Amino acid sequence: MDVLDTFGRPLRDLRISVTDRCNFRCVYCMPREVYGRDYRFLERRELLSFEEIARAARVFAGLGVQKIRITGGEPLVRRELERLIAMLSGLGLDLTLTTNASLLPQKAAALAEAGLQRVTVSLDALDDETFRAMNDADFPVARVLEGIDAAAAAGLPVKVNCVVKRGVNDDQIVPLAEHFRAAGHTLRFIEYMDVGHTNGWRLDDVVSAAEIVGALDEAFGVEPVEPSYRGEVARRWRYRDGRGEVGVIASVTQPFCGDCTRARLSAEGKLYTCLFAVRGHDVRALLRNGASDDDLAESLRALWSVRGDRYSELRSAQTVDLPKVEMSYIGG
Ligand SMILES: C[S@@+](CC[C@H](N)C(=O)[O-])C[C@H]1O[C@@H](n2cnc3c(N)ncnc32)[C@H](O)[C@@H]1O
Ligand code: SF4
Repeated sequence: MDVLDTFGRPLRDLRISVTDRCNFRCVYCMPREVYGRDYRFLERRELLSFEEIARAARVFAGLGVQKIRITGGEPLVRRELERLIAMLSGLGLDLTLTTNASLLPQKAAALAEAGLQRVTVSLDALDDETFRAMNDADFPVARVLEGIDAAAAAGLPVKVNCVVKRGVNDDQIVPLAEHFRAAGHTLRFIEYMDVGHTNGWRLDDVVSAAEIVGALDEAFGVEPVEPSYRGEVARRWRYRDGRGEVGVIASVTQPFCGDCTRARLSAEGKLYTCLFAVRGHDVRALLRNGASDDDLAESLRALWSVRGDRYSELRSAQTVDLPKVEMSYIGG
């Protein structure tokens, strides 16, 4: 049965982070100065087990969740992720995964077989030098493109996400658009967000959606497409020559809290009702203290029904310094 928050927003999407670890050190997400040798990642016993995740997901489905996105850190560094996918695919929900694609060549077929329906791949540049500098793990573009091909060959529709940071990869907007419309994969540009504190975010580094669309319009000619459903995060633009569409996610300059139907479960089982929430609610304790599914459902319903988050709409000089969770912890 549906549960509504204080603004009447239903709970429809659940993002589940399965690890806070990653094999990349993207400069806007896990800067190496912070996530180096001494960084304390979660220990194995702190992580929700696949069984615990699957149980929580089942209860969430009973509250109206229709879509599950697996994320991280890098979700494919968690061993046997396909086993979790198989457990979740039984729920009959829309099931997708966000990944840096580094491990997709070896994993795509098993994930598709297990019931994964789609993947979103993050790729911030086509230029190899730019990309290696952005992921700060010296990882080449060619291997990400191999991962995308492996997913497509396994029958998984692929979307590609690109975070744009001024002076770093804004010259990649047009080459990425050119490449992916020819390849037939949906591409979405994302404004660089002030998530967490470790990335040293500054408003000046944000390339606005308007600037991104301006660059696309100049290069190809684009026109807006009407949103296809409530809560669609990306604004879509159609190439005037009829060769496909491109999306832009204006999370900073045009926030979309009014339609936000997402909850986020961290790898250690904390539930966040907003990407910018300061505190998570301890679902792991509920899962481990013998609560029945009905008790669990009741607690989650209570948490969602008092939800009043709309951080992005309130974003201002005063909110910049609030404690916030890191993207690599909560998964985007
Ligand atoms: C945290 S990652 C986790 C999944 C996987 N490792 C990946 O990169 O796709 C999820 C998404 O968040 C995006 N992201 C990370 N930090 C961001 C930031 N500061 N602003 C906007 N998007 C960000 C990444 O580009 C990626 O598309
Ligand atoms: S964006 Fe994804 S790939 Fe990059 S550091 Fe963050 S979690 Fe890793």
